Amino acid sequence: MQIHIYKTAAQIGQAAATLIAAQLLRKPDSILGLATGSSPIPTYQALIDMHKAGVLDFSKTISFNLDEYVGIDPEHVCSYHRFMQDNLFSQVNIKPENTHVPDGNAADIAASAKAYDEAIVNAGGIDLQLLGIGRNGHIGFNEPGEQFIYGCHEVELSQSTIEANTRFFDSEADVPRAAVSLGIGAIMEARQVLLIATGTDKAEAIRQAIVGDVSPLCQASILRTHPNVVFLLDESADSLLTK
Ligand code: F6R
Repeated sequence: MQIHIYKTAAQIGQAAATLIAAQLLRKPDSILGLATGSSPIPTYQALIDMHKAGVLDFSKTISFNLDEYVGIDPEHVCSYHRFMQDNLFSQVNIKPENTHVPDGNAADIAASAKAYDEAIVNAGGIDLQLLGIGRNGHIGFNEPGEQFIYGCHEVELSQSTIEANTRFFDSEADVPRAAVSLGIGAIMEARQVLLIATGTDKAEAIRQAIVGDVSPLCQASILRTHPNVVFLLDESADSLLTK
């Protein structure tokens, strides 16, 4: 496990984008596991800048996103399909057919989630998984609970996640109550994991993840058992570790 501490979110974005760029330069047809939310936005901007500068080519890249809300229109401004279009896909030369986001509107979500896991395995597994972390320690939408769930699955969002994500919606009532999330299995099978966390509201989750018990009550804590994980933190997210 490596931990790097930065002063700003922009620096974290540069660092994460540098590691992703190194992966793509070594293996242009890499399978990237991608996240949404505030944390990866500076990373995506830095990747877009490298692409526009002629440094990075996404034409062979394949991506699988972590999650999507259940029952949200993919065109909705808060859907993760739309987030990825707006914040990365439309601004680089990744092929639309090579991008994948879980289907939150599938008639049979369990079957669709199973097919999503199979598609990742058939593609060769994730080379590099980018993660944020919830205030409650979730990764993807694997919420605190009694177990680590292996496969892609439908999940009921916790009150903490609903409150945290209200900032993207008009009101708390508008936040979907369920999502489809990659399970801990595909995340842990990724050959490299990068986790980004900024702000004091992530400090306790980071403390639990890095020095607490490995427990499903903090789903990110399982990353400590991953052989190739890098935490990119700002000083606020690191504050309870340093103490
Ligand atoms: C997003 C995801 C979530 C977020 C986490 C942090 O695809 O899977 O685990 O990474 O909720 O969100 P932000 O970065 O908005 O604080």
